[in-house]
Amino acid sequence: MSIRKLEIEENPPLSLLLLADPSREMVEDYTRRGVTYIAEILGNVIGVYVIVPLEHDTIELKNVAIDERLQGQGLGKLLVHHSIEEARGLGYQKIEVGTGNSSISQLALYQKCGFRIDSIEKDFFIKHYKEVIVENGIQCRDMVRLSQCLT
Ligand SMILES: CC(C)(COP(=O)(O)OP(=O)(O)OC[C@H]1O[C@@H](n2cnc3c(N)ncnc32)[C@H](O)[C@@H]1OP(=O)(O)O)[C@@H](O)C(=O)NCCC(=O)NCCS
Repeated sequence: MSIRKLEIEENPPLSLLLLADPSREMVEDYTRRGVTYIAEILGNVIGVYVIVPLEHDTIELKNVAIDERLQGQGLGKLLVHHSIEEARGLGYQKIEVGTGNSSISQLALYQKCGFRIDSIEKDFFIKHYKEVIVENGIQCRDMVRLSQCLT
């Protein structure tokens, strides 16, 4: 698998991005503001992540997704580690990520990649998403925010 920045003239892989975030509106907003990276195997795009600068020393990992057929093989972890190294290389001191209270695997993944929970934004998904999101039999209501120091 190789990972590279999406070129300006290339379209972001929307179907992959929508796996991580059901709001097309939000996806289009942060792909415009951030930098999208794609993971390819034999020229096929099989993964994506987006990083978006926040304050001067902080960047946010906004979306990470792996093609459903290839999940569970360690590729998502490689993308998260790649995003951390990119953020460090760009000189950021902190990387943040947010996920839903119902996203059990994602909470495991981020903590396994060194993120620690900072805060919980209650009812974030109720306020910002039109659709009801249910994962693992749990309604997604609250945003769990995690971060890690890069220095
Ligand atoms: C989230 C996603 C990117 C993960 O990618 P992946 O390739 O399937 O994940 P990986 O195989 O790299 O591994 C995930 C890690 O989390 C761990 N994990 C997953 N569920 C877990 C659980 N319930 N308990 C403990 N660990 C768990 C795995 O064991 C693995 O860690 P390990 O290598 O130490 O065993 C992928 O599943 C995906 O695209 N999901 C849909 C989009 C999405 O939800 N994105 C995140 C938005 S916040």
